[in-house]
Amino acid sequence: MNKDKRRVVIAGNWKMNNTPAQTKATVSELIPLVEGKNGCEIVLCVPFIDIKEACDAAKGTNIKIGAQNVHFEEKGAFTGEISAQMLVESGVEYVIVGHSERRAYFGETDTTVNLRANAALNAGLKVIICVGELLEDRRRGITSELVSMQTKLALLNVDEKELKNVIIAYEPVWAIGTGETATPEQADEVCLTIRDTVKELYGDEAGEALTIQYGGSMNAKNAAELLEKTNVDGGLIGGASLKPVDFSVIVSAAQK
Ligand code: PGA
Repeated sequence: MNKDKRRVVIAGNWKMNNTPAQTKATVSELIPLVEGKNGCEIVLCVPFIDIKEACDAAKGTNIKIGAQNVHFEEKGAFTGEISAQMLVESGVEYVIVGHSERRAYFGETDTTVNLRANAALNAGLKVIICVGELLEDRRRGITSELVSMQTKLALLNVDEKELKNVIIAYEPVWAIGTGETATPEQADEVCLTIRDTVKELYGDEAGEALTIQYGGSMNAKNAAELLEKTNVDGGLIGGASLKPVDFSVIVSAAQK
């Protein structure tokens, strides 16, 4: 983290977990645990069906609510999809795009990730764009090139002003939900690659100001050492975000 230069964001990604009733209970449990911890932004990205409950429960607190995906068209015959405007009206401030599970199981490509990011930004949402390599990519030694390319493709047509509403989450696919975490050095190295790529595209100042999260089995035990790294400006947390106490410990680690 480098709080002089950029904001730190700890975001939970609930994935397909928690019903509306469970959402109310979980958010209510989290609120007192993170009260007054204003050294980072706190976001919960919840299933679409839970957005209203989450927004109601979090109202007036330091917890912000996000969605996990958004479609790129404004409206029309896209059964099962949700538009950016719908999200705005539902009360979310953030949306994740390009999560590796979307890429792996739902045919998401760098092109659709880019379209979704632009649609969300145009609607005034803040986006968390996920990038990251597979284990075989890392073994082949192409992590930097691949992540840099994913970053460039995701940011096509995003102008410098909009970049202020962009967070990039570096999520090595081999570390997601596996209990295996990138070492702080590995996380910092790839986050720096992303920062350098953004500097190349938008200039040094914009690159230095960009929030870059690490995601992939970040938990109550390892958060502090990951967040200690200069280029790791927060976390995108799956499993541990479902447990309010664990999530609050990660939030605490981001207070320094
Ligand atoms: P995990 O998920 O923390 O359960 O590994 C992270 C993510 O997918 O964003």
